[in-house]
Amino acid sequence: MNFIGIDVGTSAAKVIVIDETGKVLASSSQEYPVHYPHVGWAEQDPEDWWRGGKAGIVDVLANPLVKKGGVRAIGLTGQMHGLVALDSANRVLLPAILWNDQRTQAECDEITETIGQDKLTECTGNKALTGFTAPKILWVKKNHPKLFKRIAHILLPKDYIRFRLSGDFATDVSDASGTLMFDVKNRKWSSEMSDLLELPVEALPKCYESSEVTGVVSESVKSELGLKGEVLIVAGASDQAAGAVGTGTVEPGTVSVSLGTSGVVFAPQEHYAVDSNNRLHAFCHANGKWHTMGVMLSAASCLKWWIDNVHFGLPNPYYTLLSEADDVPAGSRGLFFLPYLMGERTPHSDPNARGGFIGLTMSHTRAEMTRAILEGVAYGLNDSLQIIRELGIPVDHVRVTGGGAKSRLWRSILADVFGTLINSSRSSEGPAFGAAVLAAVGSGEFSSVYSACRELSETTETNQPNPENVKRYREGHSTFQGLYADLKERFRELV
Ligand code: XUL
Repeated sequence: MNFIGIDVGTSAAKVIVIDETGKVLASSSQEYPVHYPHVGWAEQDPEDWWRGGKAGIVDVLANPLVKKGGVRAIGLTGQMHGLVALDSANRVLLPAILWNDQRTQAECDEITETIGQDKLTECTGNKALTGFTAPKILWVKKNHPKLFKRIAHILLPKDYIRFRLSGDFATDVSDASGTLMFDVKNRKWSSEMSDLLELPVEALPKCYESSEVTGVVSESVKSELGLKGEVLIVAGASDQAAGAVGTGTVEPGTVSVSLGTSGVVFAPQEHYAVDSNNRLHAFCHANGKWHTMGVMLSAASCLKWWIDNVHFGLPNPYYTLLSEADDVPAGSRGLFFLPYLMGERTPHSDPNARGGFIGLTMSHTRAEMTRAILEGVAYGLNDSLQIIRELGIPVDHVRVTGGGAKSRLWRSILADVFGTLINSSRSSEGPAFGAAVLAAVGSGEFSSVYSACRELSETTETNQPNPENVKRYREGHSTFQGLYADLKERFRELV
């Protein structure tokens, strides 16, 4: 029996098929654009997600291995926090506003002032951050009041695909956690928050645990895509929770890092807990428990920016630039890169933060610049890891996943900056693999998320920290932190 995982990512829709042993039988990635209509804005067309998801399904179904086994269930995952608003005829009312969009600082301030941080933490477990969904809804209410009145359904990106597959309006607890409208402690929508936004609770999708079945693929979609028999749809999880399921990060004491468009440090928690000042997010995990995490808005996307905008046309750009950077000593000969290309979430919560190279001299080449980018992202992730350590969560080794984790150099820089062992797992397919695992759990192939993770997650490669580099990077991290602190006020003048 086969299981499909669909990840509605920021750069592409990824579709994979696994069998009951977790073997990846087929995978497909369909890219689509992000639109940046103003500085700090980030939008996508939900129709692009659907087109990409459908094309990916058709692509994987063409694989003879998949054809033979048939598909039992689909699990969904995707970028978190995005606002998809539909009218009563189920039409998309405006472009989806994404997780890294920074337009809502005024709405975040308004939410915090109206409700008060203590009450907000009590109701949602989190603070109002520009990426979260509730401030986006408030922004629509203020800036497009007529559209706001027409909102009949609010969906998250992966749940828009569920709606197109089945006609159901549903989500899961891990993704709902990132809306700032969810009572994370009690795993249900917060009526206080929908009252505050004057958004009828009926507009919110029904919320399930991640491995519950939410419906089946409709007959018309099955015949369009070539699916046969009853195909269940399992709730699935946010990309971060699904990625963690894929790497087996479900037991307390395990920590994972995702090096995708965003950079995330993720730690499971047995019990609901909120850290002081809500420095990290407190969200529901896909295993029926909770997790904490810190999120950088630009991680592997910094390297993509470097390649797309500065080295456009360079043949074999990833290979060329990364091999050059490998020859540069740790510390990039005194060059630093601030990775705040879309502002920053953890730990600064600062939409005005900006990126930059600092410390350039005549002797620096693009090799040092590339290495400084990899190191800058690693330092940014280390900011969150530092808070996780301060909370007393043990960090002996870190499981790393996401596109950036394919680079041996980047993994070794992470090992040296974190001062820990780094494991990469076979789930290089990332969240899509976790979503397929949740589909397998939901259809009864495994008794729980834990037992699936025990059977299916496996480590492929380990990077050891190099003590000399660890020392060098400890000093480097402190300089990196100082640079942001020194420039913070100046960044406001650049807006
Ligand atoms: C998590 C977050 C990002 C997105 C996109 O809070 O904002 O990781 O989920 O990957």
